[in-house]
Amino acid sequence: MGKGISRRALGALAVGGAASATLSGCDRVGPTEATIKSRRFPNDFVWGVATAAFQTEGSPTADGRGPTIWDTFEKQPGRIKDGSNADVATDSYRRYAEDIDLIAGAGLKAFRFSIAWSRVLPTGAGSVNAAGLDHYDRLVDACLAKGITPYATLFHWDLPQALQDKGGWSARDTANSFADYAATVAARLGDRLKHIITLNEPAVHTVFGHVLGEHAPGLKDIALLGPTTHHMNLGQGLAIQALRAAKGDLRIGTTQALQPCRPAGGPLAFWNRPASDGLDALWNKAWLDPLLKGTYPAAMGDFLKGHLRDGDLEIIRQPIDFLGVNYYAPAYVKLDLASPSQIAVGAPPKGAELDAFGRQIDPSGLAEVLERVRRDYGNPPVLITENGCSDPFGDGPGVIDDGFRVQYLRRHLEAVKSAMEAGSRIGGYFAWTLIDNWEWDIGYTSKFGLVAMDRATGVRTPKASYGWFKQVATTGLLPAT
Ligand code: FCB
Repeated sequence: MGKGISRRALGALAVGGAASATLSGCDRVGPTEATIKSRRFPNDFVWGVATAAFQTEGSPTADGRGPTIWDTFEKQPGRIKDGSNADVATDSYRRYAEDIDLIAGAGLKAFRFSIAWSRVLPTGAGSVNAAGLDHYDRLVDACLAKGITPYATLFHWDLPQALQDKGGWSARDTANSFADYAATVAARLGDRLKHIITLNEPAVHTVFGHVLGEHAPGLKDIALLGPTTHHMNLGQGLAIQALRAAKGDLRIGTTQALQPCRPAGGPLAFWNRPASDGLDALWNKAWLDPLLKGTYPAAMGDFLKGHLRDGDLEIIRQPIDFLGVNYYAPAYVKLDLASPSQIAVGAPPKGAELDAFGRQIDPSGLAEVLERVRRDYGNPPVLITENGCSDPFGDGPGVIDDGFRVQYLRRHLEAVKSAMEAGSRIGGYFAWTLIDNWEWDIGYTSKFGLVAMDRATGVRTPKASYGWFKQVATTGLLPAT
C-alpha cells in the first residue's frame, strides 16, 4: 500500500468523465446503530466464513498450477507493503483439512472459498489439469463429510498470467475462457458443489488492478475501465449460461463490493455530489444495473464505446439465485479539479469511528446498501459474502482478545437483521475471514481472521471472535452487547 492511493482509502480515481454523471447516489448517512425487533435469526440462516485461494493456499507450483497475475505482481519490487509474497500464506493447499475442522468446530455450516483458475487450467484455457481439480474435489468432499456446504468463487482476482499476456479482462476473449473454465468446474464438481459464485468484487479488480495500478495486474490506464468492466460482466453472463447448461440444479450468484458513495465535506457536500455520484456509477451501478436491469448507467457510456456489442446486455442479464454483498465501509468522495477524473478520496466526517485501515466503522452503510438492493433492484435473495475488520496493522502476532472485532461483527449483524426485518431476503452471512492471511498489496500486515496463525509454524489459534461467532451461529441469537 503506497502512501497515496490505497484500496483502503479508495483513493483518487483517474476516471475522466464520471464526474459529469447526474445519477442519484447513495449518499444518505443513516444512524450508526440499527433498531431491531428481535435478535433471533431464522433457523435456516446460513452462517459461514469466506476465504480466497491466493490469500490462503500457498503451494504456487504444486500439482501443475500455472502462474497467476498475483504471482507476477507480488514479486515486483515495491508492490507489496511488507515485501512479502503468498508462496506460503496459510498453507491451506496442504492444511485444508485443519481449516475445515476449525470451521466445523465453530458450528458453521458453510465455507466460501475460491478456486484458483490456474490450478484447473494452467494457462487459463485449453488443457485441463486434472491434479488441480483433484484438490478441489478433495476439498468439497472434506466439507461435505463435516456437514459444511461448500460455496466456491470462480474468480477471486487471480487471473492466469497466460490470459493476462493476451490482454486479460480487457480482451473480450477472456470472457469466453471464463465460461469454459466455469463449465469445466461444473462438469467435475457440480454433482456435489451446488453453490457457485462467479466473480468476487469485480469493481475492485477493475479499478485497483487496471486504473490505479495498486493491485495485479498493476496497470494504470483509464482506457481499461470500460473494457475490463464490460468483459467481466459479459464473462459472468456467459459463465452463468455455461454453468446452467452443465448442471441444472446449481445455485449461482455473484459477489459485489457494494459501497455507499457519500459526498465528503459536511456543509460543502453539495459541491462533492457529482464526484460521489460518478464513483457510485462505476463502482456499484456498473455491476448491478446490467445484471439486474439490463442497462449500464449513463456515466459508463463513454468508457464502453467500441466494446459494447449488440446482444451483450441480454447475455449479461442472467437470472441469479442470490446476490453476494461484501461490505466493509462507506466511501467519502470529493470533487478534485486537479485530477483528470475530478474524483478524489475525501475524509469521513469529523469524529467518525475508524478501524485499523483508517476507514469509518459504519454499520449503517451496510443497512444502506441492503436497502438499495431491496428498493432499486427488485429485492433479490442476498447473501452477505464478506464482512469483517482487521487487527491494527503491524508485523506482530494476531490479537487473540479481539473484542473490537466482536463489536464490529455484532453491530454489522444488527444492520443485517434490521434489513431483514424491513423486508430484505438475506439468507446468510459469511465472516471475512477464517484465519489471518495474506492481504494482497499489504501482505501480512493486516489480519482479518477469527483465528490467528503463527507464520513460523502454521499453528492456528482461535481468537475471542471465533468463540463469539460460534455462539451466534449455533444459537442463532445475536447478543445485545
Ligand atoms: C475484500 C476482498 C478480500 C479481502 C477483504 C479484506 O475486498 O474480497 O479478498 O481482501 O477485502
